[in-house]
Amino acid sequence: MKLIQSEYDKLEDKEAKQPFYYDKRDSFNKRDVSSVEHAGLFIFLNRAGFNGLYRVNKNNGFNVPIGSYKKPNFVFEDVILKASRLLSGVDICNISFEGALKLANEDNPEGLPTFFYFDPPYKPLNDSSSFTSYAKDSFNDDDQVKLKLVCDLLDEQGHQWLLSNSDTTNFDVTNTFFDDLYEGYKIERVKASRNINSKGTKRGQINELLIRNY
Ligand SMILES: C[S@@+](CC[C@H](N)C(=O)[O-])C[C@H]1O[C@@H](n2cnc3c(N)ncnc32)[C@H](O)[C@@H]1O
Repeated sequence: MKLIQSEYDKLEDKEAKQPFYYDKRDSFNKRDVSSVEHAGLFIFLNRAGFNGLYRVNKNNGFNVPIGSYKKPNFVFEDVILKASRLLSGVDICNISFEGALKLANEDNPEGLPTFFYFDPPYKPLNDSSSFTSYAKDSFNDDDQVKLKLVCDLLDEQGHQWLLSNSDTTNFDVTNTFFDDLYEGYKIERVKASRNINSKGTKRGQINELLIRNY
């Protein structure tokens, strides 16, 4: 990361930085580097790319353009080492949310109560904020309902869960999609800063939902 930092800092302006950024993006998508370097490229792209956005095309290729940061920082050893310590002994499973049921049951022979935090793709607030797809498969209202059914089962089995999502009443008070769907559970509205919005003037505070069964 230190090498990338010093090379990037030497490039004077956005025009000079562009070929460097897109070259690293190509390399990230081709996976023509070691896994450690690939992780480093992810940090670089996340910090130098537009608004820290993560988005891929239909072929699963990262396609976020370069951002306009004056001097992004790619080196934060302390944070990486702390994350590494916290994650040691942790299993990261790349599975669909339905897999939570298996984790709670088959993979939990002692039947210990388990805590689940669900952070699914947010339901869009209006037509123009239709960004729900971080990956090539989108997440629609049917998926939101399926996730709720998983939450019901976990609840019946004595597990605890917390779920975050957008508050569809922000711009349309009559759109009570989640209030209706999760009726009977605890629904809290919290203020959240929205950083990812193509229109800078539309950044600011908005309500989001925290829904839980405990
Ligand atoms: C709001 S983001 C979560 C961000 C994450 N909590 C973080 O802090 O980086 C929603 C995530 O849900 C994932 N996702 C989409 N469909 C899914 C599914 N069927 N099961 C599990 N995860 C899914 C997306 O790939 C995306 O990473």
